[in-house]
Amino acid sequence: MPKTASGVLIPGKLSPLRAVPKSITRPEYVGNLAPSPHVGGDRYSDSEILRIRKSSKIAAQALEMVLGFVKPGVSTDELDRIGHDFIVGQGGYPSTLGYRGFPKSLCSSVNEVICHGIPDDTVLEDGDLVNIDISAYFDGMHGDTNGTVVVGSGSQEVIDLVKRTEEATMRGIKAALPGREVNIIGRAIESYAKRFGYGVVQEFTGHGVGSSFHTGLIIPHYDAPEFSTKIELGMVFTVEPMLTLGTREWDMWEDDWTVTTKDKKYTAQFEHTILITQDGPEILTVP
Ligand code: MF3
Ligand code: CO
Ligand code: CO
Repeated sequence: MPKTASGVLIPGKLSPLRAVPKSITRPEYVGNLAPSPHVGGDRYSDSEILRIRKSSKIAAQALEMVLGFVKPGVSTDELDRIGHDFIVGQGGYPSTLGYRGFPKSLCSSVNEVICHGIPDDTVLEDGDLVNIDISAYFDGMHGDTNGTVVVGSGSQEVIDLVKRTEEATMRGIKAALPGREVNIIGRAIESYAKRFGYGVVQEFTGHGVGSSFHTGLIIPHYDAPEFSTKIELGMVFTVEPMLTLGTREWDMWEDDWTVTTKDKKYTAQFEHTILITQDGPEILTVP
């Protein structure tokens, strides 16, 4: 049902809006068209970092749990319910729910969907690939993480894409040393991806994260020297490259969220929220 005869995805049906208890604090943007401008920069104090650690941990635990439920026959809406219930059960708010009107508590991006897929009645099938992107807001801070898995048994080509996208993410993270410019990250990612002829998506980037979901700081995943912000101690941002089996060009669905590869070839993504320390980058989105 959610695929055409040629196997290309089409939009499914959304379930009703999920409830969040009144006792849980919402981010300021919920109910508004857009978030207010970020204040305070991208470096955080020790006490703020403790709070980002907590929200990052909730997001990472939610991701781990949701990925554990991925199997042939499960719908992306069911995965959304699992992620939503976990975050709310921890006293957190799922950052995507009501962010610029996004209607669900995580992003589920299947096969040719690059990012921002909306959970619906699409049922995962053997050989599909799905990226789950979860963000949690807790005690005034956001943590943001994602990961891609193959559903059931996939082709070697798809298994390799997932493995190498994770490796590219780790290489980008390891390049994020204090004193360098943020463009070192995309240089590391793109040079690795190019070995395999993968496309590297340019228009969706890593970002500063913390007291805002997206602070305005941009972390490109390709070699872009013009992004020359210095990486400083105490900075927090995401690294979240999207690699494709073909073109890096994309189309947008009419829902204004779902981004698909133009050639409808498969694409994978991994994301971590990281902190810059004296010893180098530290991944905060660990369960
Ligand atoms: N979590 C995504 C990111 O990595 C953002 C999703 S915004 C949404 O930046 F509105 F699409 F949910
Ligand atoms: Co992000
Ligand atoms: Co994310």
